[in-house]
Amino acid sequence: IRSETLAAVAAALDARALDAARVAALGRNGRVTGLMKTLGTLPPDARKAFGQTVNALKDEIAAALDARKVQIDSTALAARLEAERLDISLPVRPERAGTLHPIGQTIDEICAIFGEMGFVWAEGPDIEDDWHNFEALNFPPDHPARQMQDTFFLPPRADGMPMVLRTHTSPVQVRTMLDKTVQKRLADGGALRVIVPGRTFRTDSDQTHTPMFAQVEGLVIDRATHMGHLKGCLTDFCRAFFEVDDVPVRFRPSYFPFTEPSAEVDIGCSWKGGELRIGAGDSWLEILGSGMVHPNVLRHCGLDPEVYQGFAFGMGIERVAMLKYGIPDLRTFFESDLRWLRHYGFSA
Ligand code: PHE
Repeated sequence: IRSETLAAVAAALDARALDAARVAALGRNGRVTGLMKTLGTLPPDARKAFGQTVNALKDEIAAALDARKVQIDSTALAARLEAERLDISLPVRPERAGTLHPIGQTIDEICAIFGEMGFVWAEGPDIEDDWHNFEALNFPPDHPARQMQDTFFLPPRADGMPMVLRTHTSPVQVRTMLDKTVQKRLADGGALRVIVPGRTFRTDSDQTHTPMFAQVEGLVIDRATHMGHLKGCLTDFCRAFFEVDDVPVRFRPSYFPFTEPSAEVDIGCSWKGGELRIGAGDSWLEILGSGMVHPNVLRHCGLDPEVYQGFAFGMGIERVAMLKYGIPDLRTFFESDLRWLRHYGFSA
């Protein structure tokens, strides 16, 4: 039994053969187990010696099984390593990773800067109703922005409400102020600071206008907010975004129906040999619109202008991206030309 069993163990080439050898010797009906069962038939004085011999045989076989298992496993592993061999000296395939589009990259940068100032991200729908896009924002009924040439009109809603593709991100100001949680936070003494990137649409198409473009809106509502807060916040932003610590920032009086007073914000620059340089210089570049939220807008949103004041701003993403990254042509943003994307895109 010993030599046959050890030979079977040694001859086993895989786990199944090895298990068969184990069962044949040590299984319930195995040959060694069978020997143990004969113990009772022996004369009492012979039992001890016989038992010890059979136990020693059992141990020897068990040890042989273990050793053979280690051998089989390592042979199998070696075979697998050989079969799945990787040639790490092969050059990588010439595949290119994609890049972040300059618009997405610029939105991320802007939101990160305002994020550090405590603004939170918000969003609104591309398809807007006339009330949010115009009415609540204090647009007079005959305001030019409502005329056909600027606005993409959509079929009216079932309740008769005229619908549009939003012409700016400002309707999200209204949506945010009307939000129940926001109103509760304001009532509890908190402030509102949101930054809102999104697509906007106007029926304009030429060298410097595309029917779809991107804006980022900002809104702050608090108690005792004033023009100084607006100026400080936007000056800090301009310096951080253009990475020029002392870039001059100019606030120029302007008009928007939903802010009073309103200001357009310019940064200092100069042109040297056709190259734009941002910083103190002899020229100015307009980069955004801003102003103190008009009391009528606050009222439309259920906020008492005697208690709450705020400021808002909006900027064109393509425009600030062109200035920061020296992209010469607006229309290239929307052409999906891979060469352009590789050149102006950002590694993720
Ligand atoms: N919505 C304005 C525009 O599209 C920009 C703006 C936003 C101005 C917020 C003032 C305040 O031109």
